[in-house]
Amino acid sequence: MATRQEIDNVIDATDMVALVSEYVRLEKAGKNYKGLCPFHNEDTPSFVVSAEKKLAHCFGCGGGGNPIKFLMDIENIDFASALNKLAKRNGVSITENTQFVDKKQNLTKYYKIMQVATNFYKKYLDNSSSGLEAKEYLNKRGLNDETIKVFNIGLSPKPGDTLYQILKESEFLELDINDVGLIEKGNKGYFDLFANRIMFPIYDEFNNPIGFSGRIFGDTDKKIAKYVNTRDTVLFRKSDVLFNINLAKPEILKNKRVVLYEGQMDVIASYKSGIKEAICTMGTALTISQARLLSKYTNNAVICYDGDKAGIAASLKAINVFRNAGFNVHLVLLPNGMDPDEFVLKNGEEAYKEYFESHLMDANQYIFEQAFINKNLNDSIVLEAVKSQIFDMLSNSSSTDKEVYLNKLSERINVSYESIIADFNRYYNSTAMPNFVDNNDDFIPNENYPYYEQTPKPIIPKNAWNHSCELRLFMYAKSSKEKALYIDNMISDRMDALSIENQSLWVTLINSFYENYAVFDEALFIKMLNEEEVKHYTNILDELRKFNINEYNDEDLHNCIAKLNEIKLVNANKQISSKVKNDMDLEDAKKLIEKKFANRRKQELLKNRRK
Ligand code: UTP
Ligand code: MN
Repeated sequence: MATRQEIDNVIDATDMVALVSEYVRLEKAGKNYKGLCPFHNEDTPSFVVSAEKKLAHCFGCGGGGNPIKFLMDIENIDFASALNKLAKRNGVSITENTQFVDKKQNLTKYYKIMQVATNFYKKYLDNSSSGLEAKEYLNKRGLNDETIKVFNIGLSPKPGDTLYQILKESEFLELDINDVGLIEKGNKGYFDLFANRIMFPIYDEFNNPIGFSGRIFGDTDKKIAKYVNTRDTVLFRKSDVLFNINLAKPEILKNKRVVLYEGQMDVIASYKSGIKEAICTMGTALTISQARLLSKYTNNAVICYDGDKAGIAASLKAINVFRNAGFNVHLVLLPNGMDPDEFVLKNGEEAYKEYFESHLMDANQYIFEQAFINKNLNDSIVLEAVKSQIFDMLSNSSSTDKEVYLNKLSERINVSYESIIADFNRYYNSTAMPNFVDNNDDFIPNENYPYYEQTPKPIIPKNAWNHSCELRLFMYAKSSKEKALYIDNMISDRMDALSIENQSLWVTLINSFYENYAVFDEALFIKMLNEEEVKHYTNILDELRKFNINEYNDEDLHNCIAKLNEIKLVNANKQISSKVKNDMDLEDAKKLIEKKFANRRKQELLKNRRK
């Protein structure tokens, strides 16, 4: 790969406004340019481009980034391709790692094989007698010609070596055809692995064909597998594969969420209904590497698994995997144990979409409800188990969630809130978890609002604690890219949570720095800032030094996030925010936000004086 310096050179050499203008109609707005965001639907422009900073950012959906990131997302290409394109365009030379190029060339030949196979299967579906039967089956399941085309669905012929012969004619090597998992060697030579199955091609996130899933249809022998998927090959690693990620990717960016289903028929039903940010794994549990892949595009996941026992167990697992990758998780449970594909067939696409959007359930709510199903609460041992399941669920939750669910729990089991709190504290004391104490929080209107002070206590003086919260998050974000993305997700609406100066630093850190570099580097980061921002950043570093915070503290990180989110809640600044979002002029927006924060500071001063 190119060196850091070379990547910087490419970014420096790019005319950001000219680049974006090829895709978006831009108008000048103060120092910047703005236009309608290409990554989501909108009527008023919130896509701002800074020529000076070589940065594009959508204040609506968070899309954009530096030139490389922008090109990756808009062209749906990978980092190396975007970098090469920009280097060529600007006449900047970069050293290409030959190994990388070789590997890429090798893969290209495999993609070609998959492409030829896809085309063949498609033709076979259209032009054979068994194709008629297969189409009838698909139509019966609600897939019309248009859907068949969108998903490139095809059909594999009767057992034999038809595909193998076709691929040989195209002058591909036996070895290569074997490598992508399309054929197998038998007594009489090679034969096709997929036979008499409806073929769903599977693509990677860059739209390269990597494998197939084949479904039986018609008169079926119960003993053979309903679906056969490509085995693990050079292109296809089941634990990384996400069906429909190619079509879902732009939709995930646009809608800021991804919906996880159990099977490809569910994904297709969802897609038809207009919920296109839909993916599924290949009949296996969600893996952390799949979640990480998705986290490049969003931090919001909705799980919509079957409503049966297996589906519930799988949902609980998937919640954990998603949460470990820093996602906010919601679920949708369909009535009567139906799967989405059945629901759509029975009630129609519109009804599905409507049901889906109006039945989104927070993951905690889901776990909470699950905990009580078929439990005899009169049995004190069972009751303790239910309680600890809910206490476990709350271990990493926000203070707000803790209060909400502990309250719910007290109501549900008919016990006072105080004694639930006492149990909760005892539970976490015995498992060395945070204490439940009152923390005189300045921003919380209700003086008795419970707050969870974490152990070990932060070393920061109490009155400075609130003030330095944003700054500390910067420091924690510098400790690793993962932490940074996690924080970015948790404080989701940056316009609301951060002051404007911090916000612009934050956007640079997330969208520009960590897009290109895996590990934080002070000097490189500062190079990405303009003069004003450098000044502000230096101030932050000074402040942090004053507070003597210099090491990573996980508890404190969560405190900071909770804090920021609470600030957001208690301040009735929604009005200002919506103005800012619809406002065309960034300078005005900045003034509004500054006013907002000035008010906040005043409020703090008054409170302190009163004490
Ligand atoms: P399901 O059995 O829930 O299938 O398997 P489904 O999606 O409802 O399929 P239809 O509606 O009967 O066509 C869910 C997923 O598990 C994988 C497939 O990826 C399927 O989409 N699977 C299932 C297999 O890999 N092999 C099988 O034999 C069955
Ligand atoms: Mn189904």
